[in-house]
Amino acid sequence: MLFVLISLLLHIHSNFIPSDKMQSEEWIVPDSAKSLENPTDKEDQDDLAYGLTLYNQHCKSCHGKKGLGDGSAAKNLQTHIPDFSQAKFQLQTDGSLFHKISNGRNEMPEFVRKMPDDEDRWLIVNYLRTLEEK
Ligand code: HEC
Repeated sequence: MLFVLISLLLHIHSNFIPSDKMQSEEWIVPDSAKSLENPTDKEDQDDLAYGLTLYNQHCKSCHGKKGLGDGSAAKNLQTHIPDFSQAKFQLQTDGSLFHKISNGRNEMPEFVRKMPDDEDRWLIVNYLRTLEEK
């Protein structure tokens, strides 16, 4: 009971900090999506270049040139944007990233309709891998 009360209070409190970005709840990806195999060739340089073009067109405005979460539109969002250069992000499977890009959540748009060709979304996943901080 006490626990419920405390978490309720914390919840209410967190809603009263308007300047803070909303820290998102964990994004649960179904196991079947997690283990989905990436059918593309990650070493193909033309495909990587195409992935970059798609990224710049559809993702950069929020996620930023290098995926740090600092795109020009990011400041207008309520949600914190994860940093693609960090290990925490990169440890996710290709299938998880594909799932998140395809389906979206809250302020993250879904791209199944905007980018109906599955291969395009896999090529973006491959491009996201190049953004890892070395
Ligand atoms: C309108 C702004 C916006 C655009 C455009 C956008 N994103 Fe996002 N993205 C977000 C936000 C906000 C989140 C965090 C969503 C959440 O956790 O609820 C996010 C989360 C993600 C995540 C999940 C990160 C994680 O670790 O959980 C991936 C992957 C992602 N975006 C990839 C992309 C790709 C690829 C594109 C372009 C095809 C794109 N996004 C376009 C705003 C955007």
